[in-house]
Amino acid sequence: MQPTTHHASTMMMNQVDLRSLVSKHGTPLYVMNETYIRHQIRLFKASFIHSKIQTTIFYASKAFLTLAMAQLIHEEGLHIDVVSLGELMTVIKAGFPSEKILFHGNNKTSLELDVALKHHVGYIVIDNPFEYENLINKVTQTQKVMVRINPGVEAHTHEYISTTKHDSKFGMSIYGQDTVELIQAITSHPHLEFCGIHCHIGSQIFDPTSFQKEARLLLEMIHQLKVSHNINVTHLNLGGGFGVRYTHEDDPFDIQVHFKHILDYIQDTCDELGLDYPHVSIEPGRSLVAQAGVTIYSIGATKTTYSNKKFVFVDGSMADHMRTALYQAKYEAKILERPLAAIEQTYAIAGKACETGDILIHECPLPQPHVGEHLVVFTTGAYHYSMASNYNRLLKPAVIFVSEHDARVVVKAQTIDDLLAQDVLV
Ligand code: LLP
Repeated sequence: MQPTTHHASTMMMNQVDLRSLVSKHGTPLYVMNETYIRHQIRLFKASFIHSKIQTTIFYASKAFLTLAMAQLIHEEGLHIDVVSLGELMTVIKAGFPSEKILFHGNNKTSLELDVALKHHVGYIVIDNPFEYENLINKVTQTQKVMVRINPGVEAHTHEYISTTKHDSKFGMSIYGQDTVELIQAITSHPHLEFCGIHCHIGSQIFDPTSFQKEARLLLEMIHQLKVSHNINVTHLNLGGGFGVRYTHEDDPFDIQVHFKHILDYIQDTCDELGLDYPHVSIEPGRSLVAQAGVTIYSIGATKTTYSNKKFVFVDGSMADHMRTALYQAKYEAKILERPLAAIEQTYAIAGKACETGDILIHECPLPQPHVGEHLVVFTTGAYHYSMASNYNRLLKPAVIFVSEHDARVVVKAQTIDDLLAQDVLV
């Protein structure tokens, strides 16, 4: 399914003309194709299954979370992962069943642990021994926990979004004696139910063999825990990280083929090692929502520098589009009113923030843009709204969900009053 379709004088998201959304809500504007998200979720659910192995999908809510999104995830029957009090309270407010919530984080605060326990979240993933100590000082009834493991697998992705090199801040080393000691302490605690190990090797991964390496190492660890320490690991959570297509240069692997391979591989490896099949989970974020989203901007000035670099300025910035500045991420865009027009030349798309690095797209082939037209940037459904800031006191855009025929506001645009609401005038 294509998230948008392009015509001579406009772009459609399902049956909704994106120009009508601009007229009604202004720009910048985040627009998410709700039908596409549901379609992706159903594809994942239908493919991440196996005749011998039980499976669960947790949506990694950090990619994109609002009350409406939490409701959608629940309606579609997924579990959810959260990493902060804000994410936790959003999903609870949306009515998400607490037993389907998994709580992550490398430095959970005392308050976060209190609230997670009070709401009886399904799983707490312990990152380190300090967190274990905090937890046992609070827990008074059975709480399922997992331990986050760092297997040191090198996944080929941007340095900032790879999490499992040996010096990563996340989790406990697969090779550490302290890791075994932590798991032993958990298994002998009366209120903690040790149910398994968790790992996330990185994000925007294009090489599926990285996940096989991850699974192999973790199954070997499970085997070791069983034979050397008589500890039974029933759950294996392999994290998220499945790459998506931002530009024509990206070549993501087929998720259906990958899921079949990895689950078969886990079956074979368990047979080889003499292990019972664990319950296997994944935590996709980006791959469920990235391609569902676009951001629409108004085109303002264009500028040709003395060195002949051509800029198009838009009314957003790195504050609503952080990934280019942070990860050198690449995007594609088209003019809303002329998506099929012939390309004239390549422009840099720059925002209005006071920072030279405030570039949304470094090289964007476009027809000659005109003031008053709009630019649609594709694949902005993940880590855009969720990473938006108020740098330069720029306001966060509204988020619109588009279903088959209708559009609805799921996050109102921030106003100047909202922006000033927390400030205290002395
Ligand atoms: N599980 C855990 C424990 C994670 O840390 C993450 C992402 C995920 C699942 C979901 O990964 P995904 O399927 O979305 O790749 N802001 C960065 C991405 C940071 C990802 C952090 N963790 C970006 O915009 O590329």
